Amino acid sequence: MKINLEKAKELLLAGKVVALPTETVYGLGGWIYSEEGIKNIFAVKERPFFDPLIVHIDSTESAKKLTSEWTEAHEALAKTCWPGPLTLIAKKHDSINPLITSGLDSVGLRCPNHPLTLRLLSQIKGGVAAPSANKFGKTSPTTSLHVEEEFGGKVAVLEGGASEVGIESTVVGVSKSPQGFEVEIYRPGFYTAQMLEKILKENNIKAIVSYAQSPVAPGQLKHHYMPKIPLLIVPEDFEWSLHQKEVEGKLQTKFTSPILWDLPLDPRIASRELYEKMRTFDKQGHDLILVIKRQSQNTEEWLGIWNRLEKAKTLNLMP
Ligand code: TXA
Ligand code: MG
Repeated sequence: MKINLEKAKELLLAGKVVALPTETVYGLGGWIYSEEGIKNIFAVKERPFFDPLIVHIDSTESAKKLTSEWTEAHEALAKTCWPGPLTLIAKKHDSINPLITSGLDSVGLRCPNHPLTLRLLSQIKGGVAAPSANKFGKTSPTTSLHVEEEFGGKVAVLEGGASEVGIESTVVGVSKSPQGFEVEIYRPGFYTAQMLEKILKENNIKAIVSYAQSPVAPGQLKHHYMPKIPLLIVPEDFEWSLHQKEVEGKLQTKFTSPILWDLPLDPRIASRELYEKMRTFDKQGHDLILVIKRQSQNTEEWLGIWNRLEKAKTLNLMP
């Protein structure tokens, strides 16, 4: 069901969920000051309560009101990257319902770069909590059609066109250290460590930026983003005829129409198309997705894409 901005506002304030467009993926929004709204997100998405939600706000000013500590590093990153695909974790304000943060004392905040959603957020006190608008563990939606298919038309959607970035925001934790700041990337995305380092340096902030080694962020489970048909990551020289028996044996299924998927060479285009493709191969009659991983796709800009595909894959065929 498609709705307009006025209706979206009315539903959110009444404790209902609404799917909202963002530049990364569509989110399943609930008003942060409605416990019913927050509970509805988990219920509709079938999401476990241990996985914290990101709160969406219209500006840095609004973000600050939801935190009890906002450092110079938060300020510099927000100033440069917002509105945009970066989620900043900060100490939470007491007013934030622990259901949103899974009981953690921190909250994830993001100002999305989408004109319609920004306008909506500016009209709602506090902010809107929103995970990606898909059933838990499944492929994320980048169009309103994906959302409607996912929930059988039961979720109200604010139409905002196809998401430009295509994969979820980079999630970043910020902590103080004797040398300055430690900035840890919990989930890779559009903003890379190199980009964040540059921004902090330009703002005269001493910081070490790194990728978190273990899944410190709750909800960063091994399996996620999974399409309806099995997905494998294969090396450049992969030949189906040589590996068919092995794959069919391991997956205990016969495959008649595998698709060998060569991602676009530009990582920006690859991420924009990623989920759309993962959702459409089965509709085209394929029964197995074989994603080719090229040597040239091992750079930092590709990390976000491989992070999603690694979790979406059924098993590993990489050497
Ligand atoms: O691009 C995005 O971030 C999209 C759009 C809708 O904004 N949202 C999104 O939300 O991807 P979700 O729920 O699918 O992913 C949120 C993840 C959690 O699984 C968790 O890993 C991390 O963000 N997160 C949220 N709050 C956190 C916190 N306080 N501490 C650590 N990690 C947190
Ligand atoms: Mg998600």
